[in-house]
Amino acid sequence: MKQLLSAFKPIPLAGRSRLVLQSLMKALISVLCLVLYLPLSHAQGVVGSKHDLSSTQKAGVQATTQVCVFCHTPHGSSVAQNAPLWNKTYNGGVFPASASVSTACLTCHDGTQTTDTVINSPGVGGFGAAGGRLGDGGDGQVGGKITGWAKIGTDLNDDHPIGMLYAGLSLAEDFKPSTTLPLYNSKVECATCHNPHLGTAATFLRQGSNSGSQVCLACHTK
Ligand code: HEC
Ligand code: HEC
Ligand code: HEC
Ligand code: HEC
Repeated sequence: MKQLLSAFKPIPLAGRSRLVLQSLMKALISVLCLVLYLPLSHAQGVVGSKHDLSSTQKAGVQATTQVCVFCHTPHGSSVAQNAPLWNKTYNGGVFPASASVSTACLTCHDGTQTTDTVINSPGVGGFGAAGGRLGDGGDGQVGGKITGWAKIGTDLNDDHPIGMLYAGLSLAEDFKPSTTLPLYNSKVECATCHNPHLGTAATFLRQGSNSGSQVCLACHTK
């Protein structure tokens, strides 16, 4: 029996090393999880950004886990302006009618329409030309409308101009001959400076940030 027991002695050792192995594995898995989690915890694209209004996000409305639906729909979008597959009706306001892409941003940022109102809500049979609400709004919103500092308002006289041609400026000495930022039909629009999908950038700026006024200096030679 004693011999048998001693024969089994290595088992507790093996058990211990198995334990050591197990905890090593656990540590490794934790490190792996952390490595995998870190990039996820910073919004790569629109998911997890302030433009992710889905119910899984803090800025979200409760009704859906879909992310794109607050701005785009595959079918039945509004064609009144030139924004891609836009899932909201456009608002009026004191801004250039030609500012097609910019009017898309203003369907939320002028503060007049609830952010959760869409033309074609998730699922089958969700279409309603006038738009319907999905649920109440989140961050910076009251009654679903943007009210905080992100409210640009309906009068853009106090904002950087939009909807004007960049190409062919006569004040050549004041502007770079061309800009690295995207123009829309040669015009400066909200989406020239901002990429609404770029969750990694502060205030969705295409340049990442405006440190050193790099956004301004992409166009102005001041
Ligand atoms: C908060 C509003 C908003 C959300 C949410 C959003 N988009 Fe957009 N998207 C826009 C606007 C505004 C434009 C037009 C301006 C531009 O071209 O960047 C656009 C343009 C696009 C374009 C065409 C131009 C390009 O960049 O290729 C695609 C494709 C697109 N979005 C896909 C998506 C997908 C997929 C999602 C969800 C994962 C999404 N968007 C979520 C606002 C949004
Ligand atoms: C579906 C509604 C919706 C549309 C469309 C939309 N936004 Fe937003 N946006 C929001 C909400 C909600 C917030 C968060 C407001 C807050 O936190 O106070 C936000 C925040 C922002 C911010 C601040 C981000 C930050 O990091 O603090 C910027 C900049 C912005 N949006 C620009 C744009 C631009 C430019 C467009 C068009 C290209 C656009 N948005 C289209 C709803 C929208
Ligand atoms: C010429 C570039 C440019 C254009 C065009 C532009 N923005 Fe901005 N926007 C900025 C910069 C730069 C900031 C960040 C300011 C800062 O970080 O100090 C900003 C900030 C914002 C913010 C955050 C709130 C604030 O005031 O700081 C919102 C919301 C916003 N922009 C929406 C819009 C919308 C909507 C449009 C179109 C009507 C637009 N922007 C057009 C450059 C621009
Ligand atoms: C994409 C190019 C572009 C970027 C980026 C840009 N601007 Fe401009 N800006 C213009 C153009 C073009 C005009 C001329 C508009 C006009 O007179 O029709 C202008 C006009 C102005 C004006 C005069 C406004 C008026 O009402 O006459 C000021 C001030 C200004 N920009 C400051 C800035 C600042 C500050 C930034 C950075 C936050 C910036 N701009 C970023 C292109 C740009």
